[in-house]
Amino acid sequence: MKIITLQGSPRKKGNTAKVLSWIEKELIALGHDVESIFLNTKNLKGCLACGKCKERPDTVGCIQKDDIPEILEKMTRANLVIFASPLYFLGVSAQLKTVIDRTFSLYVDYQQPGHASLIDCQRQALLVTGAGPYENNAETTFTAFGRMQNPHKTINAGELFIGSCSTPDKLNDSIKEKSMAFAHKITEEC
Ligand SMILES: Cc1cc2nc3c(=O)[nH]c(=O)nc-3n(C[C@H](O)[C@H](O)[C@H](O)COP(=O)(O)O)c2cc1C
Repeated sequence: MKIITLQGSPRKKGNTAKVLSWIEKELIALGHDVESIFLNTKNLKGCLACGKCKERPDTVGCIQKDDIPEILEKMTRANLVIFASPLYFLGVSAQLKTVIDRTFSLYVDYQQPGHASLIDCQRQALLVTGAGPYENNAETTFTAFGRMQNPHKTINAGELFIGSCSTPDKLNDSIKEKSMAFAHKITEEC
């Protein structure tokens, strides 16, 4: 399976990166082709809502000249995309949200008969890490993620929240096992 991971934390060696690296290693061990994209070093501009992308239903069609069209092109060729982020005020980081907003250019005619998506039937998964101790801390993020998949016409492969994070060295074996199990879950039935 061709897999893209979007690492949305600004911290290259933080909690999200560490959990994601365990997931990625397991995916590679399972024989998958994994490409990791660290968003913080990319040139990411917010969606202009210009609607130009909607004039081109068969291509990405975004007119902005930053690093996102290339990321979106890679997404269109992936079987599975893993979105990864720290929880920031109950949402995802600005880096990841910027890319999510720009996925507006991947579909046309949402809620109309001609609804078509360049990532139709793609599997998508979400990893969130947070400092808070509550199991449902990422609930709003998971809800938003699930709803994003309606216009995307994609499949929810799984969601993982790792709470009570402090420093990456404190992430223990039980979290490593959860991460590895998550890698299996999001790629199963394929
Ligand atoms: C701006 C900001 C907002 C945050 N908001 C939350 C939050 O709403 N809930 C939570 O549990 N943790 C919150 N945190 C803590 C981070 O989500 C947590 O430390 C995370 O594991 C950091 O991931 P990283 O090391 O990959 O950057 C916040 C941290 C920052 C910097």
